[in-house]
Amino acid sequence: MAVDEDGALLGYGTLLFRLGSEQTRLYSFCVHPQARGGGLGRRMLERLEGMAWEQGCDWLVLEVRVDNQAALTLYRGSGFVPSDWMADYYEDGCAAWRMSKALFAGPEAQAG
Ligand SMILES: CC(C)(COP(=O)(O)OP(=O)(O)OC[C@H]1O[C@@H](n2cnc3c(N)ncnc32)[C@H](O)[C@@H]1OP(=O)(O)O)[C@@H](O)C(=O)NCCC(=O)NCCS
Repeated sequence: MAVDEDGALLGYGTLLFRLGSEQTRLYSFCVHPQARGGGLGRRMLERLEGMAWEQGCDWLVLEVRVDNQAALTLYRGSGFVPSDWMADYYEDGCAAWRMSKALFAGPEAQAG
């Protein structure tokens, strides 16, 4: 969670951990509309990756709408790689990309 100096919410993200799993899921992730475009999303994502790593997870996975350019740009630029195309994933019929990022190594590990 990110807040400003007055304690107002600027953004949040939630991670889902599963006992015994090396994979963490980024379940929700949002920056307040008035706080977007200034790097907060990237900084929050890096913090969430660190939290997953600290819990012993090697992979961070997420699903994102294929029409969500802002999020896709952020995730791609942060090293997430699309793994699965999921048609009709959302209620309105929009497809999703499942994306994943290896937390333990460089770009060569992310290809696997
Ligand atoms: C996606 C979201 C979290 C990005 O947060 P943000 O604070 O604006 O992101 P940043 O300022 O850190 O920018 C991160 C990258 O995304 C890119 N980006 C941000 N807004 C963009 C837009 N509208 N279109 C294209 N790219 C965009 C930036 O250019 C930046 O890439 P760069 O570092 O290569 O230049 C924010 O737009 C949001 O909360 N959207 C609504 C909720 C949502 O879609 N959550 C994701 C669900 S999977």
